[in-house]
Amino acid sequence: MDKFILRNDDEMPALGLGTWKSTPKEVYDAIRDAIKIGYRHFDCAAFYGNEPEIGKALIDAFDSGDVIREDLWVTSKLWNNAHLKKDVRPALEKTLNDLKLDYLDLYLIHWPVALKPGVQFPSSANDFLSLDDVPTSATWKAMEACTKEGLSKHIGVSNFSIKKITELLGNCEIKPEVNQIELHPFHQQPAMLKFCNKENIVITAYSPLGSTDRPSQFKDPSEPSLLENPTIVEIANTNDLSTAQVLIRWAIQRGTAVIPKSVNPTRLKQNFDSATIPLSDEDMEKIARLEAKGRLLTGKFWDAPELGYTAATLWDE
Ligand code: A2P
Repeated sequence: MDKFILRNDDEMPALGLGTWKSTPKEVYDAIRDAIKIGYRHFDCAAFYGNEPEIGKALIDAFDSGDVIREDLWVTSKLWNNAHLKKDVRPALEKTLNDLKLDYLDLYLIHWPVALKPGVQFPSSANDFLSLDDVPTSATWKAMEACTKEGLSKHIGVSNFSIKKITELLGNCEIKPEVNQIELHPFHQQPAMLKFCNKENIVITAYSPLGSTDRPSQFKDPSEPSLLENPTIVEIANTNDLSTAQVLIRWAIQRGTAVIPKSVNPTRLKQNFDSATIPLSDEDMEKIARLEAKGRLLTGKFWDAPELGYTAATLWDE
């Protein structure tokens, strides 16, 4: 299994299990199955609404002797409604309590977007706080304090543009070690890849299979299918792989971590196996040449121009 070496020589496995959209009911079995298959990296978030069930699965896996805590890499994320400096540590403590862990391996700022405390998802501009009022640098200071206290071994960001990371790098004591972003053959982000390589920041690719199971509020019904793309199908057929395996392997071979989500035991195993099946340079080049179709998660749901949030200010593009 490919790994990334982070600060203090800690190793993050390149392949992790995504848990966004795994229902509380489904996720317990998915985690138990995944650990038995060999997954050691789990990607979680308070917003996914399933951390208590993941915590139960982790405790039961430890108690059954399936794995020990030290051999797992567990990531979680600070939700947008806890960006105020005073709210960061309580949010992380709640996640630790739900996951039944003493520490996280990685804690990420989920989005560069601040919501008012108590707002889970915005229904109007009134639910937002502007980044002038809650600067990311202040949220980051609280993240740094949490890592200094050992609540999370590493800290990073998610959905951050090159511009936002550059600003943070100029105003931090501890560098973000990871940026988790949407990354797949329809949205390859080569400039971000180059920038993060230069800055020694690991990229984790989310929605690597196209996240077709996401709720309609996050989805355009006419969006293109990654799993059925003719080039991906052709590469899958010639290599005797599934299209999901091609997409996962492509991400790892490009030097990123990747977190495909599944709650199905057969697909969990299939996805895990793809970590070790190399694609030829020719296949990698064919995928590199695919037409860019843009983001699946456009961030439109964070539109609040009155508070300074638009697609342009979110992605800095
Ligand atoms: P399921 O959980 O039933 O396996 P993403 O990781 O991009 O968010 O995509 C997750 C979606 O892809 C889910 O609908 C998941 O369904 C599905 N999926 C996961 N693994 C595979 C696979 N190997 N083949 C086809 N679909 C998959």
